[in-house]
Amino acid sequence: MSSPEVARYPVVEQTPREEPPVPNDDSATVLDAEVKVSAEDVDIVPEASDSFVSTPYVESLTARALTYMDVGYALHFAGPAGTGKTTLAFHVASKRGRPVVLIHGDDEYASSDLVGKDSGYHKSKLVDNYIHSVMKTEESLSRIWEDQRLTTACIKGYTLIYDEFNRSRPEANNVLLSVLEGKILNLPNLRRSGEGNLHVHEDFRAILTSNPEEYAGVHKTQDALLDRLITINLGHLDRETEIAIAMAKSGLPRPDAETIVDIIRELRGVGVNNHRPTIRAGIAIARILAHHQGSAQIGDSTFETICHDVLNTDTAKITHQGQSLMVEKVQETIRNVCGEPAGRSKDRRRRERERK
Ligand SMILES: Nc1ncnc2c1ncn2[C@@H]1O[C@H](COP(=O)(O)OP(=O)(O)OP(=O)(O)O)[C@@H](O)[C@H]1O
Ligand SMILES: [Mg+2]
Repeated sequence: MSSPEVARYPVVEQTPREEPPVPNDDSATVLDAEVKVSAEDVDIVPEASDSFVSTPYVESLTARALTYMDVGYALHFAGPAGTGKTTLAFHVASKRGRPVVLIHGDDEYASSDLVGKDSGYHKSKLVDNYIHSVMKTEESLSRIWEDQRLTTACIKGYTLIYDEFNRSRPEANNVLLSVLEGKILNLPNLRRSGEGNLHVHEDFRAILTSNPEEYAGVHKTQDALLDRLITINLGHLDRETEIAIAMAKSGLPRPDAETIVDIIRELRGVGVNNHRPTIRAGIAIARILAHHQGSAQIGDSTFETICHDVLNTDTAKITHQGQSLMVEKVQETIRNVCGEPAGRSKDRRRRERERK
């Protein structure tokens, strides 16, 4: 049995999908079947990386989530991009001290990608030549069933993180209904050998994430599934957490991180999408600025250029009479946030209070 791999969050690697081997024999001659649990290599033990920040905001959400999970409920973190859903899911899972099985929602998934499927055939041949004049041969083909991640998590009592589950089609996710409600994993039509219905391990828990704002490549979530989850709606991280993240990810001093975070937070109030720029833009500006050894000040031309380039995508849609207002808007925000002389003006303090 291989020991689980350690995954350091908040950096999460995408697990590639593996195609099952194509059977090279005629399936009509199947005689028996065997079951193989092969998802061990996807077990991971989450561990906070050096850049993970724990603030009162993060810890209060974690405590809330753990309370619901202790009682036995599955969790659902819902919120716009960049609100820390995936990172929080890992953090909460790490507190449970159980290995984690990670699935990323995928439009091409069928139920079998979650629970398992026949992955090939095992052929065996017996040649009996005990009496040299008589030769008896016996051939058999057995179907190999391979458990997929959901089944492994249910059997072993792991924590399942199903990231962006609404990218998978609702019919693929239906298998979760009986798992979450009756604690039964129902596989009769898929698993042609072994048990058709598996009792879910008492330590099994699920944490799902989704972005309800997303409209490209996602599916409407069925009410039946939502009804079995406790949904915690996440808005943007609070200012303090965003500053701590910008500092941890870039090594910039606090005043620079504050300025950057204040710029992105102020820009969220501009235009039609109040969710962008996300903290990812803040992290990008902070990291590039640190790399250039610049500082977040109005006279620093490198800083202003970085802001314009990074925030370009987020503000490009803001137009006036067909003209993009982007450059002006970013410039105005930089001036607003750091245009005052040293120390904070009354105006800036008022804006901060309003943003909190
Ligand atoms: N507590 C934290 N400590 C350090 N970094 C964090 C923390 N929370 C979030 N981040 C960072 O903020 C960014 C967004 O976080 P995350 O990917 O978890 O958000 P998300 O809501 O899952 O976004 P998406 O919907 O786009 O997948 C990432 O770069 C992540 O590393
Ligand atoms: Mg995510």
